[in-house]
Amino acid sequence: MVTLDTIRKPVADDLAAFDEMVSRHFADDDSPMAEMLRYALSSRGKGIRPLVVLLSAAINSPSGRAGKRASLAAMLAEMIHVASLIHDDVIDEADMRRGRQSLNARWQSKNAVIAGDYILARTISIGMSSAQYDLVQHIFGTIATLCEGEVLQGAHARRRDTSRKDYLEIIYKKTAALISVSASAGAMASGASREKVDTMRRYGEALGMAFQIQDDILDYTAADSATGKPSHNDLREGKITLPLIALLESADAARREELLALLDRCAEDERAVEELSRAVVEGGGTESAARTMHSYLNRAAALAADYEPSPLRDALVNLCAYVGQRDR
Ligand code: IPE
Ligand code: IPE
Ligand code: MG
Ligand code: MG
Repeated sequence: MVTLDTIRKPVADDLAAFDEMVSRHFADDDSPMAEMLRYALSSRGKGIRPLVVLLSAAINSPSGRAGKRASLAAMLAEMIHVASLIHDDVIDEADMRRGRQSLNARWQSKNAVIAGDYILARTISIGMSSAQYDLVQHIFGTIATLCEGEVLQGAHARRRDTSRKDYLEIIYKKTAALISVSASAGAMASGASREKVDTMRRYGEALGMAFQIQDDILDYTAADSATGKPSHNDLREGKITLPLIALLESADAARREELLALLDRCAEDERAVEELSRAVVEGGGTESAARTMHSYLNRAAALAADYEPSPLRDALVNLCAYVGQRDR
């Protein structure tokens, strides 16, 4: 199985520069706000977005190195992501993130909301001070898209008519948009041609769609201890994601009615959550979702193949394999 460490290797120095930049800009003094920031930043996630920025920057640069503009872009993208997770856990009332208490569980929702806002405000301020306006404009547009995705998802919660098309729009906005922008911003940071920036935009979009579909599959199949966040939460929240949509599509009217009645009970009844999860897995819902995910991954890998063979191209292709196999 391909590991993230292998994929990180060709940009290891750039990742170190990115890490250093994040610690330098966030988590400085010893105020109560800084304490929350340090907590939020000390349990590292997978870091897919900065990795995508740096790989894309490096493969599009004549020197094969990502460089300073790319580190900045990586930091802006990752900090938007970190803030969105803090807000997401408030919205979802999730008490676990990255294997430990979420900010809202530890400091209450009211403080978590402000901490997320603060991270966004600092991120915007750092971006503006850098005067790299092309990157700033490109990346900051996704903040609004993420918000639209969360609200759209909320509007669809427990709605029996959520279609595959609705689902794809939601996951584009809440996840694929930022990963897509990470990939295109990396190319932009290296001064790539418009065609290459667009190739990377499409690569990141397909990778991001697959990434979220896998996240939604893991919500059905993985243990909390693997993902570091509570599993089956989507059903408790009434979120209708691709595994359930696929099962509903293949069910006859009576079965559909039964499944939707179970979904209605999931908010309060853990037995309904268990029963519906089992029905989705055993009925082939997760398998069908995995097929859709793989078609996105194939698309992403084909776009990476636009580049000449190199360790960086291998990393972009391996990242597709990783997303399809990841269990956390
Ligand atoms: C979690 O994102 C939210 C989704 C878009 C699925 P990640 O899975 O990238 O979270 P971390 O950063 O690794 O914790
Ligand atoms: C992720 O949404 C939040 C954003 C991408 C803004 P989810 O609610 O599906 O993600 P997890 O499962 O909490 O990580
Ligand atoms: Mg959530
Ligand atoms: Mg989820």
